[in-house]
Formats: sequence, structure tokens, C-alpha cells
Amino acid sequence: MSISVKHFLKKKIDVELTPRQKYIRFLGIKRLALAKFILGKYARKKPKNNVVFVVAICIALHEKRRFSEHTLVNQAVECLKKTNNQKTVAFGNYVLRRILTDLNLFSYEAKYEEIKWNAPLWWIEYLKQQVRDVHLRKLLLRSLSNHPPLNLRLNNQKKQTEVVVELKKFNRKLLQVSSHGLSVIPPLDIVQTSVFKKGLVSVQDISSQQIIDLVEPRSDEKVLDICAAPGGKSLAIATNIKCQLFSNDKSKVRLQMFEREINRIKEQLVTVPKITCFNPLDSKQLDCLFSLTSGGFDYIILDAPCSGSGLQRRHPEIPWTKTRQQLEKMLVIQSKLLDASWKILKNRGILIYCICSIFYNEGEGQVVEFQKRTKNVNRKSAPGLIYPTVGKQYFSDNDIFNKLDSNELKYIGNDGFFYAILEK
Ligand SMILES: C[S@@+](CC[C@H](N)C(=O)[O-])C[C@H]1O[C@@H](n2cnc3c(N)ncnc32)[C@H](O)[C@@H]1O
Repeated sequence: MSISVKHFLKKKIDVELTPRQKYIRFLGIKRLALAKFILGKYARKKPKNNVVFVVAICIALHEKRRFSEHTLVNQAVECLKKTNNQKTVAFGNYVLRRILTDLNLFSYEAKYEEIKWNAPLWWIEYLKQQVRDVHLRKLLLRSLSNHPPLNLRLNNQKKQTEVVVELKKFNRKLLQVSSHGLSVIPPLDIVQTSVFKKGLVSVQDISSQQIIDLVEPRSDEKVLDICAAPGGKSLAIATNIKCQLFSNDKSKVRLQMFEREINRIKEQLVTVPKITCFNPLDSKQLDCLFSLTSGGFDYIILDAPCSGSGLQRRHPEIPWTKTRQQLEKMLVIQSKLLDASWKILKNRGILIYCICSIFYNEGEGQVVEFQKRTKNVNRKSAPGLIYPTVGKQYFSDNDIFNKLDSNELKYIGNDGFFYAILEK
């Protein structure tokens, strides 16, 4: 309960929180819609954000049955006292006592869409426009109610045994979930392990790891990861494929995160990426990128900024921190980045467009529009839309299920993603 409530929804604060605090914050955000709804029943005017967040955390911990109601209320009141006047604290105290003894508390989920999706109404409406298939929406909803999986990328296949031996010491089960990926069941704080410190593994979802199988450059070919920070895709390539890799991002701050990650895993790299900081939407800076080649890049990966709708299970704050206007703006940026990337791709070069979103407009819609306005695009076969899955939806191999019980199955799956491959 010592999380500073004013930072509740801010992603950046994560570096300052302990893993336990991060987890509590995560659980609280997952109950934000329910907290808002309940407070709406008791308050005459809109409650302050910090009250909503404290109530959300209390509901989440109550649901997990980790503490008695008495402890939760006392801790919450102490927390509210730090930033609120007496009247607000008394109100919080009153509401929490009522809520935590309300036997119907979790049944509101079945009745109200906002609580079911844990998102504001505008997001749910948008999601329904963008994800038309009702069956897929059900899959998505199911994934949201589960804990996100911990999927690792092996940075050195030869050291797989060392990784497995170390993680088994933590009483974990490990599953090979892709050519380079291991799933850790149940998840643990991987940062504390020696294999993480040595750079033998990185945290990366299986959907994102697929990039390794989609690029096949020769060692002398030039690959540009044009929106590269904090480096997930670039480093998946750099640990597996020999090539001339350029990793660009317009954000210096995010590139610093990338450099820290390179430093951690540097001994496992088969290619050392050259880092650049240009904004491809500025024509002069785009020229600078082009001048790194003679006649254009052989491959460009455009992992564009997006809504992040494929990651909602992992980052439940996503619907609460975005606005409809931001999503519209993002569409414009994505289409401009597609056009800019195309200009510096050589003839017969390959552009891989990807996003961690499951919204039509950002994925398939963006590619369809690009093909309408651009000549000489040959669309090649690619994974397309990848749905977030959980448990049995993920694997078709029954053997794997035999190794896990139903509780453990909840911890496997993948994030939502989209890939298109376009040849010039
Ligand atoms: C989805 S993230 C990339 C994630 C990264 N590829 C990875 O796998 O770790 C999108 C990135 O695009 C960058 N970005 C946004 N606008 C950009 C622009 N105009 N030019 C280059 N990068 C941009 C952001 O700074 C952000 O780092």
C-alpha cells in the first residue's frame, strides 16, 4: 500500500517500484472500472483520482484474499490521509467498509461492459468497431481475465541447459513455446536470476519473437529497424542473425534503454547493431538514414507506435491512458512512417510492418490503404493478425497439456500482434 497513488497509471514509475509493488499496482489497475463504478454509487461528485486508485487496490487485494477486510481498510485510510482532507478520508473509510462486505461486489462484472472489459466506454465501442468477429472478442476477453505469461527469448541457444537448470531451482516448469522461446510457469521475477544477469535470456513475447523467422538477410545485407527502441526486435535479430543491422528511433531516452539492454546481453550478440537517432518523418533526417546505404536498405522493420491494444492483458492501463484523438493521430503517423520507410527501401527490398495492436485500422486497414496509394507493392505471406491467447488456445500439441495442470495452463499464451510483409 506504499505505492504513491499519484503515479498509479504512469508507466515510467515502474523503475522505482519493487516487483511486489508493481504487482499490486497491476492488480489495482485491473479493478479500476469496478472502483469507479462503486464510488459512483456512493459519491455525489466525481471522486478524486487518488481515492479511486486506493479503492481499486483494495478491491483487487480483497479479491485475492491476501488480507483481512480490517487490515485493508486500515491501510487504505492511512494511505488516503497522506494526500486528502479529513472529509475525504472519512468518505473513503465509509465506502471501503461497505464495499468489502458487499457479497455482490464481483457480480457487477456480468452486468456492465466497462467492468467486464475494464476500460472506458469509448474504448469498448472502438474495440467493437475494430474487432468485428464476436468469437475473437470472446477470446480477447478471456485472455484479459488471466495473468500475462512470462515468455523468454533465449539469447544463446547453446546455453539453454544452463537456463533450464537455473530456473528449475525456483521450482518452475519450463516449456519450449517457439524456436527461440521458453515459457516460465508460473512467472517469476526473472531480473533477479543469474541467467538474466548474464544476458542469457530476455523478456520478449512469442509474437514479437516471430520477427527472427521473418527476416532472412545475408550477412552483407542492410537491415534497418526504423522504430527500434527499446530494442526487442533488433536484439532478437542481433542474437540470431549475422547482418548489417541499423537500429533507429527518434527518441533519445528510449534509445538509452536500448543501450542498457545491449550492454547486458553484449556477449550473446552475433551482430552488433549500429544505433541512430533520426526522425524519418523529417525529410532531411530521412535522407541521413538513406545515406547509410547505397540505393536503400534490403530489409526495413517498421514496428510502429500504436494503441497497444494487443497488450491489454499485460498493461491494463492502456485503455485508461489513451484518448480517441491519440488513436486517430497514431493512424496518421503509422501511414507516414510506412511511406517514409518505402522511400529508403531498395528495389526488391522487404518491408515488415508490425504493431502490437489487434485493431483493424492500425493493421490490415493501414496496409490496404498503403497498397492503394503505392505502386509496385508485392504483399507476401505473413502471420497477419495474431490474437492474444491463453492456455489451450495457444497449443495444438496435446503432449504439452499433459505436462501442465489447468491452473498452470493459464500461464501460457501470447500477446496480440500484427505482421505484414511487403516487397518493393
Ligand atoms: C512499438 S515501439 C517499438 C518497439 C521496438 N521495436 C521493440 O521491439 O522493442 C515504437 C517506437 O517508435 C518510436 N517512434 C515514434 N515515432 C517515431 C518516428 N517518427 N520515427 C522513429 N521512431 C518513432 C517510439 O519512440 C517507439 O520507441
